[in-house]
Amino acid sequence: MIELATDDPVLARFVRDLDGQASIALEDGASAGPELARYTAEDIEHAQLAWSHRVMGEYRGVVIYTELLSALIEAEAPYPALAAVHRIIGDELRHTRLCAEVVGWLGGWESLHLDLGGQRMPRTDDPPAARALEIAARELTLVEEESVRTLRAYVRATAEPSIRRVFESLLRDEVRHAAAGRSLVELLERSYPEHELATVKARLRARLPEERRHLREQALARAVGGPGRQLGARLLPGDFEEHSC
Ligand SMILES: [Fe+2]
Ligand SMILES: [Fe+2]
Repeated sequence: MIELATDDPVLARFVRDLDGQASIALEDGASAGPELARYTAEDIEHAQLAWSHRVMGEYRGVVIYTELLSALIEAEAPYPALAAVHRIIGDELRHTRLCAEVVGWLGGWESLHLDLGGQRMPRTDDPPAARALEIAARELTLVEEESVRTLRAYVRATAEPSIRRVFESLLRDEVRHAAAGRSLVELLERSYPEHELATVKARLRARLPEERRHLREQALARAVGGPGRQLGARLLPGDFEEHSC
């Protein structure tokens, strides 16, 4: 697991800058986390596991969007595209730390060993603009849209205020990420010659609908309720029902 704290005052300022970009600050009250005495050991154990998976998921976002930024830089993409993806990488880094903090609230930080190293996107031989298009369409649009749907379900399912606030903060950023994905896809399709993008566009057209269906099926199959529900560990199928997108 990566080290989260620093005693270097210069680096600490960058940490404060990044923390300051949170869409919903967790200070005042919610930062203490849930009152664990109100939950069973089983609730807490399931929640620790769920939030550890979220740490991994958010860090995977850092890895993937770093690849996206690198492809965009290689393709000399417009400054607004670079600015958006640069910000999104920062968001995912902050989400990683936030989810790690929740594992800490749940008392699980010492006992869990998360291996964040070695994650990498498989590299293709596509031109950089096409690689960027593929990541923007699949990860920043489709995966983020589905994650928005799941986060909304968790906001509905979670009564614990501190945990709910974390979900709301993540949700607000992920809505913005999915919107950035749609804008980026449009910009790339408009800005780069068809012959550079044709193969990836055909691949995306053929696969994305099935991938979306698969993600929804998986999310629903996992929604079986059970321990830790109030702490963000489990959903029920009905939690997906309102505002589904
Ligand atoms: Fe995230
Ligand atoms: Fe995101």
